[in-house]
Amino acid sequence: MRLFDADISDSVFLFLKSKISANETVGKANRLFQMACGIRDFFAHDSELQQAAEELKDNPINMVCESRAEYGDFQTNQALANLVAKKLQTNNIDPKIVIEPTCGKGNFILAVLNTFENVEKIYGIEVQTKYTWQAKFNILDFFLHNPNRTKPEIHIIHSNIFAFNFHPIKSIIGKKELLIIGNPPWVTNSALSAMDSNNLPIKSNFKQYKGLDAMTGKGNFDIAEYITLDLLRNFGQFDGNMAFLVKNTVIKNILYDLPKLKLPIANLKKENIDSKKEFDVSVDASLFSCQLNKETECSCQESDFYTSETKCNFGWKNGKFLSDFSGANIDIDGISPFEWRQGVKHDCSKVMELESDDDCFRNKLGEKFKIENDLVYPLLKSSDLKFKRAEPTRKKIIITQKYVGQNTSYIQKYPLTFEYLNNHIDYFQKRKSSIYKGKCDFSIFGIGDYSFKPYKIAISGLYKTFHFCLVKSQDDKPVMLDDTCYFIGFDTLEHAEYVWKLLNTEIVTDFLKSISFKDSKRMITKDVLMRIDLRKVAQLRGEQTSLFAEIDKRKESQLDLFS
Ligand SMILES: C[S@@+](CC[C@H](N)C(=O)[O-])C[C@H]1O[C@@H](n2cnc3c(N)ncnc32)[C@H](O)[C@@H]1O
Repeated sequence: MRLFDADISDSVFLFLKSKISANETVGKANRLFQMACGIRDFFAHDSELQQAAEELKDNPINMVCESRAEYGDFQTNQALANLVAKKLQTNNIDPKIVIEPTCGKGNFILAVLNTFENVEKIYGIEVQTKYTWQAKFNILDFFLHNPNRTKPEIHIIHSNIFAFNFHPIKSIIGKKELLIIGNPPWVTNSALSAMDSNNLPIKSNFKQYKGLDAMTGKGNFDIAEYITLDLLRNFGQFDGNMAFLVKNTVIKNILYDLPKLKLPIANLKKENIDSKKEFDVSVDASLFSCQLNKETECSCQESDFYTSETKCNFGWKNGKFLSDFSGANIDIDGISPFEWRQGVKHDCSKVMELESDDDCFRNKLGEKFKIENDLVYPLLKSSDLKFKRAEPTRKKIIITQKYVGQNTSYIQKYPLTFEYLNNHIDYFQKRKSSIYKGKCDFSIFGIGDYSFKPYKIAISGLYKTFHFCLVKSQDDKPVMLDDTCYFIGFDTLEHAEYVWKLLNTEIVTDFLKSISFKDSKRMITKDVLMRIDLRKVAQLRGEQTSLFAEIDKRKESQLDLFS
């Protein structure tokens, strides 16, 4: 049986049938429901009461189902929600006030009702109407089956959490123990932008990244991260706890920003769950919990949610951000003498990436054509960097600019290339990322002098390996890397080979293991690579090399020939 597009149990149906009538006033009906299940303002308006009465009489109407992806909608199963609440109880948590900021069907609220006896008030907020009803009916069902349980005052509020005013709740907490519990949406701002969704906080660049960082990679954030931080900012100064199921990357990002944010939280825990089993998704997630109103602690204890087996501690230690405190070889933590670069970004692989086919080229659309060789370069992608020495490249790429922002009208000098690109201009114009807005036709990013160095050392950002690949020019043309890869460029093979050997030593591998997060989408990033101080690696190996002295000399004379 469904009402307001929510499933209702037989007991709830019978209860509603016997208690709801269209002649009732909303005030009287709400008093009755509050007595039955503690929920305040069960019906927000008279019209809702009338609609319920109508739907109970007739066949229930099917309401429009909103998008699951847009709301990051992965409801926690009841068994998991109960386990979370039991865990908190075992840790002597006994809340009086509970907030579930995106409560969905209310499974965490039910877990709270099942577990904690002394709760006085519960606030559940949810943006999807059908879930607010589902939560209300589930709570009603709980109390119909447990009539003797003390009923807290319960508020199920239909609201967007980004526009929600927390002040009325803050004003009643006082010294009472608070629990913020839940499972905020599993969706990123860039996924929402791609869907043209408005389910975003007003400050979408809340991390205040500038320029390209704000528009790409770093500017991307999980909505759950925003909600977690927003709640910690609003409620951090109250006594109590927070317990959220979130993606592991959210926990890592929060830890990373903690020294800057100085949120008053301590006793941070990350308990890994099996997200395939619990949510049928292939993304690593955990229960993140912490105590509120404490002196900021910037490290976190990681363990298994089900067995409580301790894994490691991670976060900040002696001013260093580490993925595992044990065995961390942080002697080489510093600043790389070379600037690591990300490969070419074009978001137009169907047109830009080619394969040779006899004396022609073939693109990903399957079209065979001839263009001049001048702007065509060998290309390596992440999957080509499996071995330490790159094989001859399978792919080629059209490089339309020598540096970011170069006027592309010069391509007319190459009539076949110019015609080919213009014939496919709609593919370039359809590129979603805002970095291309207002830029020349066929613009690319991640390109500069450094892209044209004859020798490179490259690593994939996507694969969970730590080996670096030596890449040499092919047929006198520098090899390009795509934007899933990172590299440094050199003018001489001697220098490239030396640095390549240093990067593939155990010292560097161990260091990378202790600072990179396996469960991140990109385990290797520019930030991670820039922390490898190769001078210190050479020193630890007892090696003296003229290379670093040369770099310093060139830097002094303002000539950075390496990057
Ligand atoms: C991952 S689900 C979890 C639901 C519930 N907390 C649970 O654990 O079962 C996320 C919930 O957030 C809700 N949601 C998404 N965006 C929201 C917003 N802007 N304001 C309030 N709730 C939102 C979704 O509708 C969905 O019910």
